[in-house]
Formats: sequence, structure tokens, C-alpha cells
Amino acid sequence: MDPIESLRTSALAATAAAEDNAALEEVRVLYLGKKGKITDLLKELGTLSAEERPAAGQKINALKDEVSSALAQKKDSLSEAAYASSLEKERIDITLPGRTPATGNLHIITKMQAEIVSVLEGMGFSPVEGMELEDEYHNFEALNIPSYHPSRDSHDSIYVSKDRLLRTHTSPMQIRVMEKIKPPLAIVSPGKTARRDAVDAKHSPVFHQVEGFFVDEGVTFGHLKGCLETFFQRLFGEKTKIRLRPDYFPFVEPGAEISATCVVCKGKGCRTCGNTGWIELLGAGMIHPAVFEHVGYDPKKYTGFAFGMGVERVAMIKYGITDIRMFYENDVEFLAQF
Ligand code: FA5
Repeated sequence: MDPIESLRTSALAATAAAEDNAALEEVRVLYLGKKGKITDLLKELGTLSAEERPAAGQKINALKDEVSSALAQKKDSLSEAAYASSLEKERIDITLPGRTPATGNLHIITKMQAEIVSVLEGMGFSPVEGMELEDEYHNFEALNIPSYHPSRDSHDSIYVSKDRLLRTHTSPMQIRVMEKIKPPLAIVSPGKTARRDAVDAKHSPVFHQVEGFFVDEGVTFGHLKGCLETFFQRLFGEKTKIRLRPDYFPFVEPGAEISATCVVCKGKGCRTCGNTGWIELLGAGMIHPAVFEHVGYDPKKYTGFAFGMGVERVAMIKYGITDIRMFYENDVEFLAQF
């Protein structure tokens, strides 16, 4: 093979194979440098005869030009590739979705209260808002709790003046509603309540209750039991059972304490329910005739039931929260879970 042709083939192949500027420079030095292969060929021209020299000179110079321009082209394409790869590296993904600003949500107690009210509304109870500041008559007297009555001790109260206090329960709403409307009535009334209770895992000086009451002719204890059973099944699940045990509240007769199957162990017994399988949730009973007399209802004609539950207690059981203080410490990480 013609040595010029073979130099051409190898020089162009080496140029094409160079992967970066340093490799390309080596190719240039190898062929076109002072001691390069093509430079050597040019130097050898002197050894040829005068006839051969012009044609050979032309060929070698053409080869030198061709290799030079192949090197220049390669250099251009290498720098274009380097530019493209640096662009790729610095690429910013503008399709990344923006960060949504944090939005607040309702407090778990507000939500729990709304859920309890909504289940009772679904069963025919009408919601009524109450007042947080009460007088002694509605909070105690009309509910058959006279001033000498020992049960006032369990309602250690926070007074703002001689006769005005932060209501200790939502039961005064029974009186306020019955003073205004005649039976039949079915009312649910949620809201804030306060007692001078020492703070512990289950007690807070400010807490929430939901009161429910139903008055008509012929209302029986059976209606109360059926109503609460349906209520807890809708709130905690269909398998929930309730247990009624006698309890004393001056404004009901008979009175009962209602427990539901523990939602944590489903009745088997665990730490949350003190190994009994039951969790106490509310007080209830048949409205006392003395209460009806206070609001001008005929106790021979009308009967009714009432119940009152602590919202915090229901939320603790539903979500397995062991300390009531967690609701009020304003720990956003805790609150954001609900
Ligand atoms: C009452 O307050 C009655 N008014 C309930 C009632 C209504 C009985 C209608 C009969 C007919 P009691 O004092 O047990 O009852 O309180 C009811 C619920 O409120 C308790 O079961 C508990 O869940 C909640 N509770 C009471 N005190 C506190 C407190 N300091 N912190 C948190 N929850 C409390």
C-alpha cells in the first residue's frame, strides 16, 4: 500500500478515535508535530529525484491539509460535546412541583365533637348551641341539685361572680331548651365545660361535653338503651356493645353509667380498659320528674331520657390517646395527625 495512503488512513482513524482534547493533541503531535510522521515525509522529499518531487510534494501537502482540517473539525465537535454535557449537568428540572404552603386544620376535639353531633343528627337529634357562662339556677337548681346537695362537690365550680359560673356540664341546656319549647323534642348540644379539677391524664379544668335528650309521651329506658347502642355502633363500629350499670345523677331516675366495648382490645381486656374489656364513656338516665316540674312539663304525661359524654374521653378512646394533656399542649406534630 502507498505509504501516504496508509498514513492518511491511520491519521484520520486516530483523529476520529480521540476522546478529548489531550488525546487529539497527541494525534496532532504524532502526525504533524516537528517530528511527526507527515512532517518526516515532507523532510524526505529532498531525497527524491527532481521529477518525482512536485507530485509527491503536492500529495503530502494535501494529506497535511486534510489531517489538519480533520483535527480542527474534531476539536470543534469535542468542545460542542463538552458544552452539551455541561449543560446537561447544570440542568434545572423546572417541572418539580412547588412546595404547598402548610395549611391549618381543625383541632381534633373540634372534629370529634362535630362527628358526635353529626351521628346524633343522623338519628334525628337537632343541634343547639349553648352558653359557656351559666347561672346557678340552670347549672344546678333546675337540675334538682339544690345548694346543700353533696353532688355539687363533684362539680367543683369556677365562679366569675356570686351567681355566675362557667358551666360544669352541658346538662343546663336541657332546662334552657325545655323552658322554650314543648315536646316532642330531640336535642343534641355540644360545648365547652369547666370544673376546678386537678390536671391529670384523664382530667382537664376545661373540657367538652355533648348532651343529648329526647322527650315525648311514652319514652322508655329501652329507647335510651337502643339509642346509645346505635350511636356507639355508628361512632366506633358495628361490633361495639354497650353496658349499663346503675349510677346516680340528681337529674335522672333511674340513672346509669354507660360503658362501651374497649376499642383497643375489642373487649378482651387490655391496659387502656384496665383489663375489664369496657370503657366508661358517659352518664345517662330517665329525666327526673322534678326537672320536668321546673320547666312546666307534666311529668305524668311526658317522659324522656338524657345523656352526657366527655368529648376528650371519646377521642382518647377512639384514637388510643393515653393522656388528655396532649390535646392542649399545642404540639403541632401531634395535632397535625388528625
Ligand atoms: C355529668 O356531667 C352529667 N351532666 C352527665 C349526664 C347527662 C348524666 C345527662 C345523666 C344525664 P359526669 O360528671 O360524670 O356527668 O361527666 C360526664 C363526662 O364528662 C365524664 O364521663 C367524663 O368523660 C367527662 N369529664 C368530667 N370531668 C372531666 C374533666 N375534668 N376532664 C375531662 N373530662 C371530664
